[in-house]
Amino acid sequence: MIPFTAKVNLPKQGYLNIKDFEIPQGEALVEAILQLKKEKNAVILAHFYQPPAIQDIADFLGDSLQLARAAQNTNADMIAFCGVHFMAEAAKILNPTKKVVLPDLKAGCSLADSCSGKGLAALRAQYPGSMVATYINCNAETKAASDVIVTSSNAEHIIKSLPENVPLIFAPDKNLGRYLSQKTGRDMILWNGACIVHEAFSMDRIAQQLAAYPDAKLIAHPESEKPVLDLAHFIGSTSALLNFVENDAATTFIVATEEGILHEMRKRAPGKTLIPAKVFDESCNCSECFYMKRNTMEKLYLCMKYELPEIEIEENLRLEALKPIERMLEMSVNIK
Ligand code: 13P
Ligand code: SF4
Repeated sequence: MIPFTAKVNLPKQGYLNIKDFEIPQGEALVEAILQLKKEKNAVILAHFYQPPAIQDIADFLGDSLQLARAAQNTNADMIAFCGVHFMAEAAKILNPTKKVVLPDLKAGCSLADSCSGKGLAALRAQYPGSMVATYINCNAETKAASDVIVTSSNAEHIIKSLPENVPLIFAPDKNLGRYLSQKTGRDMILWNGACIVHEAFSMDRIAQQLAAYPDAKLIAHPESEKPVLDLAHFIGSTSALLNFVENDAATTFIVATEEGILHEMRKRAPGKTLIPAKVFDESCNCSECFYMKRNTMEKLYLCMKYELPEIEIEENLRLEALKPIERMLEMSVNIK
């Protein structure tokens, strides 16, 4: 392998600036990452919203629930987690003895940022005897303040299984929460958070797209706002959207979720026409999650080579955050 050297002293934790390193390019970069994978007995886990090159090199590609399970089941010594921080943190919570690295430590999430553990505890205190179900898009402190974690794949099933005679708080995604209330008939106290990507879809412009493609089906992630969900022919998690496009008889789909998913959709349904749903502001790339796209192949290479930035979590916090994640995994064994 070609010896690519760092020009700087490595920080113990945190940010590696790609400008400070000599990094292979093109095929050599792919080769170097594969070599590091072997040398370090590493596994690369990636979410469907990751840049295409990262999806292509990943050992496992999945939605949030599938990625949590893959992290739980791996025998690798190192997990290179290509997603956002809360996902890599969940992998570390499930794997305290493994090294978990994330290509870019600043790959955050507007939902996770909206809800602190303290804030959630304060809301719970206003509703004595309440239970808290929290979307996996949150940080470890917020998980530790929750009774059960859910993902978009298992949320409906888990909400239906919770005791009915107590107030139920749902955080942090108000759009997913409202959708789940509607689906399950369960009243919930909703945290006021939202995903900046799914909030950007424009109901009016999508209605124009549907008029232009009368045979198309609109498919949407439940993080989208109610007017978009009301128009949708199918609503589901990223993996459910992929399965729908693959198996449904329609040949044209308007896709209301982060655009990165189109890469895997095109592979699974090559003959079908896939149209990204329109956002309010045509001049922005708002249907791309800029947090997810902070990860690049160069940063994946660096994080594997230097084992930085590494996800670290204080042990007491980890144990508290683990409980609601394990409850979720137990309650959703039959969900793919
Ligand atoms: P899922 O892949 O679990 O549907 O989640 C989507 C998402 O927004 C992840 O941040
Ligand atoms: Fe968070 Fe939305 Fe990005 Fe998913 S798409 S990571 S919910 S900001």
